[in-house]
Amino acid sequence: MSVPAPAVLVVDDDEAIRRMLTAVLTKEGAAVAVAEDGVEATEAFRRRHADVVLMDIRMPRMNGLDAMKAILEVDRGAAVILMTAFAEVGTAVKAVKDGAFDYVIKPFDIEEIRLLVRRALEIRSMRADIVSLRRELSERYGAEGILTDNPRMLELRATIAKVARSAATVLIQGESGTGKELVAAAVHYGSPRATGPFVKVNCAAIPEGLLESEFFGHEKGSFTGAVGRRRGRFEQAEHGTLFLDEIGEISTGLQVKLLRVLQEREFERVGGAAPIKTDVRIVAATNRDLDAMVRAGTFRQDLFFRLNVVTLKTIPLRDRPEDIRLLAGHFLERFAAQNDLVIRGIDPATMDCLLAYDWPGNVRELANAIERAVVMSTTSVILPEDLPEQVVRGHAHGAAADGGDEVDGVEAGRPLRELVNEFETKVIRSALAHNGGNRARTAVALGISRRALLYKLQEYALGAREGAE
Ligand SMILES: Nc1ncnc2c1ncn2[C@@H]1O[C@H](COP(=O)(O)OP(=O)(O)OP(=O)(O)O)[C@@H](O)[C@H]1O
Ligand SMILES: [Mg+2]
Repeated sequence: MSVPAPAVLVVDDDEAIRRMLTAVLTKEGAAVAVAEDGVEATEAFRRRHADVVLMDIRMPRMNGLDAMKAILEVDRGAAVILMTAFAEVGTAVKAVKDGAFDYVIKPFDIEEIRLLVRRALEIRSMRADIVSLRRELSERYGAEGILTDNPRMLELRATIAKVARSAATVLIQGESGTGKELVAAAVHYGSPRATGPFVKVNCAAIPEGLLESEFFGHEKGSFTGAVGRRRGRFEQAEHGTLFLDEIGEISTGLQVKLLRVLQEREFERVGGAAPIKTDVRIVAATNRDLDAMVRAGTFRQDLFFRLNVVTLKTIPLRDRPEDIRLLAGHFLERFAAQNDLVIRGIDPATMDCLLAYDWPGNVRELANAIERAVVMSTTSVILPEDLPEQVVRGHAHGAAADGGDEVDGVEAGRPLRELVNEFETKVIRSALAHNGGNRARTAVALGISRRALLYKLQEYALGAREGAE
């Protein structure tokens, strides 16, 4: 398919100039139209939008500046290059502020015109690229990007589309790995703010002491280590969406400050006195039970209410078996392509294991399991032995071992140390899966230090796979 020739409109009351520019630009491959004054120019432009307009300023009937105004009203993306006599440079400079692409001074060098036209065309095509990339982004990360065959998830998807268009603060609740971040992105990319920034803060990953400056920024020298002035996430997200992930992890002190921003739509940088206005939409997510935290007094009720204008709840993977099937197929395709492997499908016995397992780490755990299986596989289908051990074993969940006496699912009458080790191994495995393999978060969830967790991972030889970060 050939690209259409760029359209250029040449406007000048001097016939010699019209002819000369037409010749030069036609040689460059442009489709050139001409007009003798501003009135003709706007008419011609209405008939056919030009990519670039080369326009004299002083002309009978309507001057170039008025014609430019009329043309930009029709198409704000048109690149108008003004041609001006030296005496009128001031007017041309002002016109650039009003939306002219650039100007040349008469008499001009032909090479200069060529370069300007090329540059204008380049910028126009980059703009078109940006528009189509943004459209692609919003298709990929919009609600359509949430793959599902489950009726309740389809309902959630429809709700997201509706909520996205509003300005409401959104709270996303759901287990780890169920797609909360995906939902947050869908809210942003489906909203009128889609062309603005989508900024994410993981409240659990930033040390408590630094979180305030992360949110609000700081002035130079406001605390040890604050070497320069820094814009916070709120400022970065201006006119866009700020995604506060793991909101359940912020201290009560910071909860107060956040509440104030939500109420008053302004904040101060750390060490700064002047309040800064903010136009940011907040989307927060948590895998904790915020209701229970409110009752326990660890999360402020007023902040909860402010965040909870709309709640979106993601659904655990084990409650939507149709999605296990769908997503397993989706991840298989993705990881096979990424690894340049040809894998035809998932063996029925493997699918049975996938369907029987309870997926404590939800979609993320499924994605990891399929990625591993794709890499481990020695045949053209995924076999049960390619799956992580716990997934295959999960099949026999709760079945009594050897018919022996059991206490809470473990055999009695074995050395205590052995039983404890076994129990710890299980708990750590499941916590790791819940936290997508992230050790820092797993340690927090288990209430032990990171160092203690690393020690246990080594002791139980859990480091190799489950410990991946
Ligand atoms: N319905 C879905 N369709 C396609 N991919 C999905 C879907 N749900 C989740 N995923 C993928 O699974 C992974 C985990 O999802 P995401 O990070 O959104 O979960 P989360 O709820 O934020 O987890 P956490 O609480 O651990 O932060 C991501 O790679 C995401 O793209
Ligand atoms: Mg997340």
